[in-house]
Amino acid sequence: MSFKLEQNLKDVFAMNKLLDSIIESSYDGIYVADANGDGLIVNEAYNRITGVHEEELLGRNLKDVVNKGIISESVTLRVFKEKKPTTIVQIVKGKEVLVTGSPIFNEEGKITHVVTNVRDISELNKLKVELQEAKAYTEQILKEIDDYKKKEGLKQLFDRVIAQSDKTIKALNLTKKIAAVDSTVILLGESGVGKEVFANIIHQGSKRSQKPYVKVNCGAIPPHLLESELFGYEKGAFTGADGRGKPGLFEQADGGTIFLDEIGEMPIDLQVKLLRVLQEFEITRIGGQKTKKIDVRVVSATNKNLEEMVKKGKFREDLFYRLNIVPIQIPPLRERIEDIAPLAYYFLRKTNHKYNLNKRINPEVTYYMEQYHWPGNIREMENLIERIIVTTEKNEIQVTDLPTVLIHKEKKVSKNNQTLKEIVQETEKRIIIEKLSEYKTTRKTAKELGISQSALVKKMKRLGLS
Ligand SMILES: Nc1ncnc2c1ncn2[C@@H]1O[C@H](COP(=O)(O)OP(=O)(O)OP(=O)(O)O)[C@@H](O)[C@H]1O
Ligand SMILES: [Mg+2]
Repeated sequence: MSFKLEQNLKDVFAMNKLLDSIIESSYDGIYVADANGDGLIVNEAYNRITGVHEEELLGRNLKDVVNKGIISESVTLRVFKEKKPTTIVQIVKGKEVLVTGSPIFNEEGKITHVVTNVRDISELNKLKVELQEAKAYTEQILKEIDDYKKKEGLKQLFDRVIAQSDKTIKALNLTKKIAAVDSTVILLGESGVGKEVFANIIHQGSKRSQKPYVKVNCGAIPPHLLESELFGYEKGAFTGADGRGKPGLFEQADGGTIFLDEIGEMPIDLQVKLLRVLQEFEITRIGGQKTKKIDVRVVSATNKNLEEMVKKGKFREDLFYRLNIVPIQIPPLRERIEDIAPLAYYFLRKTNHKYNLNKRINPEVTYYMEQYHWPGNIREMENLIERIIVTTEKNEIQVTDLPTVLIHKEKKVSKNNQTLKEIVQETEKRIIIEKLSEYKTTRKTAKELGISQSALVKKMKRLGLS
C-alpha cells in the first residue's frame, strides 16, 4: 500500500470515529435508516429517551417496527413519501417524543438515508400542564379577589345605610332582593328619604355592578338639552352641536344601569321617546338614521305622585306602567322614628371625621329629633347635624343648640306608663329647654319663667340639664 493511500485510509477512519463519537455524544436521540427503511445507526440517547434498544431497530425494517407496535408511526416512511424534512409527535413505548426526519439525497436526487432526531417532550408537556395549572390558579385567585372586592364594596355600602325601623328594613330587604334580578324599578318617596342611596344598592347589588352606572337628574338638565344628553346626536344634528357627534347617556350606560332621577320632571314630548327606548331597547341619536340596540337596566326615582300627574295629563300613562314594574316606597323619616337616633349618631361620626372633631350629642337631643316631622327627611337631618356641630363651641350638643322649629313643634308630652311626677318633670324640662333656646341665658330665662336664676339653675341640675 502506498504511503498516500495508507494516509487517506487513516484519515477516513479518523473521520468515521469522529462522526461516531459526535452521534454518540448527541443529547438528542439519533436514528438513521437507509433507502429501504432499514435501521442503520442508533445512538445511546435514542435508547435513553425512548426506551427502545438498538437490537429492536438495527437491521430491522421500519414497517416491521411499526407493525410490532414499538413506535406508533414512522417519520422516516413519511419523509420517503414527502421528500422533505418532517416533524411528528410519536408515541414510543407510551412516551411522547418529538421526532424530526431529514432526508439525505444523492446526486440524482434520490433519498439514500433518512436521519431522525428524537427529543423527549414529556418534560415539556409536564411544564405546559404546570403552566396551565398555574395560570388557572392565578385566574381563580384574581376572580376571588374580584369577588371579595365586590362583596367588600357592597358591605361598605350597606354599612353606610342606617335601617332600624321595620319599614326601612322591609324596603331595604326588598331592594336587595330586586337588585339581583333585572327588573325595572321605581323608587318613590319624599325628597331626602334616600332614593339615590337605594338606587346605588340596586346597581351595586346586581350582576351589572362592574358595568357602567349612569345617573341622570332629569330635573337638573335644561329640557331642551335633555334629549341630546339622553340619546346623543350625530354630527351636524343641530347648530352648536359637537362636530363629531356624541353618544347619549343611554349608550354610555350600555351593559349597566341608568338611574333616571326626578323622572317626574321629564318633559312630556321626551316621555314618548323614553317610552320607545324602554319598549324596544334601542336608541336613535338625534339627526341619525341608524338604531342601536342597548342593554340597560332602568331604575327611576321621583318624589312626585306620578299617578296624580297621569290623571292631570302631565305624565304619560303608558310610560308610567313601563317604569312602575317594581315600585319601592321609601317612607319619610317621621314614619321611621327608630332610625332617627342611629342616623343622628351616624351623621355625628361622619361630621366628626370630616372635620377631625370629637363632639358628642346629649341623648335628650335625639328625643327632640324623634318628635320633629322632618319635611326634608334624612338630608335635612344630615345638614342640621353638620351645621350644629361646626357652629357650636361646646363639645356636647345640647337641646338648646337645636333650631327653634325642632323645639317649638308640638310634642308628645307623655309616653306610655309615665307617672304624674315624670310627666310634670318632662313638661318642666321641655319648657325650660324651649325658653333657654329662645333667651339663651339662665338670667333672662328665669325672669321669663318668673323664678329666680338660682332656682332655675337648681331645677336644671335636678332635671339633668347641664
Ligand atoms: N338609610 C340611610 N342611612 C344613611 N344615610 C342615608 C340613608 N338614606 C339617605 N341617607 C343620606 O341622606 C341624604 C339624602 O339621600 P338621597 O340623596 O338618597 O335622597 P333622595 O331621596 O334621593 O332625595 P331627593 O329626592 O332630594 O333627590 C344623602 O346624603 C344620603 O347619603
Ligand atoms: Mg335624589
